[in-house]
Order: sequence, then C-alpha cells, then structure tokens
Amino acid sequence: MTIIVTGGAGFIGSNFIFHMLNKYPDYRIICLDCLTYAGNLSTLEPVMDNPNFRFVKESITDRDAVYKLFEEEHPDMVVNFAAESHVDRSIENPEVFLDTNIKGTAVLMDACRKYGIKRYHQVSTDEVYGDLPLDRPDLFFTEETPIHTSSPYSSSKAGADLLVLAYHRTYGLPVTISRCSNNYGPYHFPEKLIPLMIANALNDKPLPVYGKGENVRDWLYVEDHCRAIDLIIHNGRVGEVYNVGGHNEMKNIDIVKIICKELGKPESLITYVADRKGHDMRYAIDPTKIHNELGWLPETKFADGIKKTIQWYLDNKEWWETIISGEYQDYYEKMYKNR
Ligand code: NAD
Ligand code: TYD
Repeated sequence: MTIIVTGGAGFIGSNFIFHMLNKYPDYRIICLDCLTYAGNLSTLEPVMDNPNFRFVKESITDRDAVYKLFEEEHPDMVVNFAAESHVDRSIENPEVFLDTNIKGTAVLMDACRKYGIKRYHQVSTDEVYGDLPLDRPDLFFTEETPIHTSSPYSSSKAGADLLVLAYHRTYGLPVTISRCSNNYGPYHFPEKLIPLMIANALNDKPLPVYGKGENVRDWLYVEDHCRAIDLIIHNGRVGEVYNVGGHNEMKNIDIVKIICKELGKPESLITYVADRKGHDMRYAIDPTKIHNELGWLPETKFADGIKKTIQWYLDNKEWWETIISGEYQDYYEKMYKNR
C-alpha cells in the first residue's frame, strides 16, 4: 500500500505519519509538503531514514509536480492534510487560503482521476458547520448539520469539502471526508491556543485571551484523530462524511487556567485582549456515526492529554523555541500589537 500524505510536516500530518509507519511497517508513506511557515522538516527527522518513507517538497497547487509524483509513485491513497490552517491569518489574508485549501484540493483530485486511486481522503474541520450558541448545550454538529461558515479559513475548507463531494458524484472518485474538532498534542504550531499559552507561560509573557474567554472548543488529542482517519481510509464508506470529536467541550479561559496551574504560573499573566472578528462561540461534535459504523472512540482524556502535551513542550523546548525566535516573531508582534 502506497499513501501520499500531504501536509505531513505540519501538526496533525506528522503525527499521522508516525502513527501509520508504526502501525503498518509494510506501507510506503510519501509526505508531500511545500514547507510553509507551519511546516517543519525537523519534525520528520525520526522517520527520514525509514526506507518506507519519502519526503517531497512541492506544493499541492503545483499541477505538474503533483502529476509527476503520481507517475513516480502510483499511490493507492491520498490523505490531504495540506492546508493553511490558522483562522487569524485567514482574517488578515484570505487569498492563500483559497489557493491552497481549494485549488490544491482540486489539483490533488484531478491527479487521482487521471492516474486512478483507491481512496482520496479529505481532512476537514468541524468549523465548516459554523458555531452553536452557548445557551443550547443540547445541540451538536452532526454530518447533516448545514454548512454555515464564519471565517475565510472555514469557508475555504467548506469549499474544498463541496468540491470533494462533487468529484465523487460527478466523476465517481472514491472519496471520504473527516470533520474533526480542535486537536492538541505534540508538534502543534505555537500560534494556536494551547501551544501559544504554554510557550508564553514558560516565558512569563502575557497570556492573550480573546474577548471574555468564554468561547467553547471540543478538544481531541491528536493521536485519537489519527486513529479515526486510519479507520476511515480502511473501513469508511466511500462518499461519506464522518464527524470526529471527543465530547470534551472546554471554555478557552478554563484551558488557560489549567495550563497556568500545571506550569505553576500565576493567573495574573492572563490578559483579556480584543476579540477575534466573527469569533465562533461554540463547537461541539456528535461522533455517533463514526462510533456506530467504525467503532471509534477517543482514548485520551483531556486531563491526561493536556499533561502529556505540556510535558512534550517542556521536553522539546528547542523545537518551539526555534520557531518562535524566527519569522514567527514578526507575526506575533503584528497580530497582538493592537489587541
Ligand atoms: P498545520 O498548519 O500545522 O500544517 C499544515 C501543513 O501543510 C504544513 O506542514 C504546511 O507546510 C503544509 N502546506 C501548507 N500549504 C501547502 C501546500 N500548498 N502544499 C503542500 N503543503 C502545504 O495544520 P494542522 O493543524 O496539522 O492541520 C492539518 C489539517 O487538518 C488541515 O487541513 C486542517 O484544516 C485540518 N484540521 C485541523 C484541526 C486542528 O485542530 N489543528 C482540526 C480539524 C481539522
Ligand atoms: P485556535 O487555536 O486558533 O483554534 P480555532 O480558532 O481554529 O478554534 O483558537 C482556539 C480558541 O482560542 C478560539 O476561540 C480563539 C482563542 N484564542 C485566544 O483566546 N487567544 C489566542 O491567542 C489564540 C491563538 C486563540
């Protein structure tokens, strides 16, 4: 089995590559990643010498490069993680989100049509469903919830999802889609809530909480997401969407307080800053379908997962210190200057 994993130098993609090489030692895994600011080749160092692994530095939007790779490798599957993934960046500059997330998805699927494929899997997000009100804890996103996006990021992901379903209906492409809630764990880029708060707290810097910190996200340990995708690409029904989430809703402010407590840092570091434009209030997944059809359940409880994650950031300071000392610093100063 040969699988092209796009975006494998990023957070979830790298965790997925480790999961797959470990679980299926006879599979060939090819990582296709153009190494944007969010891609980090050092993350993949542990597998670089694995004879069943190959890294290819190209963009999913580059049709010639993608077709060439298909000609060389004859993949059985494509799992598409490659994306611009940060909502705040999409608010500043939507264009690259449209290029990578929508056009890149189309190029990959065109290659699948041209050369043949057993499965094209699109890694999507629960953000395509928009948000839920705080005062309706009985409501959850199901696969039937209408697409109703808020940010340029989620709109680009929704656009890609619609294209994927259209390629299935129009061309019979064997596709699946997973829509997952917020992930956390090792190799999470420090612009996102949990790693940003860990890094700032360790440096005794202010912890910038948007608005009142009451927004709710449904957090899932990254390895549980990887297991879900593994199940879907092997046993999921073609043409189907599967929601993935852990019934683990938390307010942002509570997460930040947990991080302070775990690191022995004072809550006085918490600083309330200007809210995100169009900020989604609450995400909450109903994972009944993937549980009933594929037997998936999350394994890592948040209380354990957050401890493991914090420990990983303590043990791997070099990984994130290198990131936050580079061009990311300019981003941070620009994004948080006026908040
Ligand atoms: P990330 O930003 O950490 O990594 C993205 C990776 O894609 C990087 O390695 C980057 O170099 C690569 N990439 C970007 N543009 C590319 C291009 N044009 N060609 C090739 N490679 C390119 O993202 P992540 O958090 O790991 O998210 C991975 C996927 O999962 C995304 O599709 C995202 O929408 C989805 N998702 C993320 C979450 C989450 O909580 N992080 C939740 C649900 C779904
Ligand atoms: P984020 O990690 O960017 O994920 P997403 O927006 O895709 O859910 O943000 C998670 C939540 O944390 C979101 O409600 C915005 C909030 N947030 C802050 O309060 N401060 C921050 O510095 C960041 C990055 C996020």
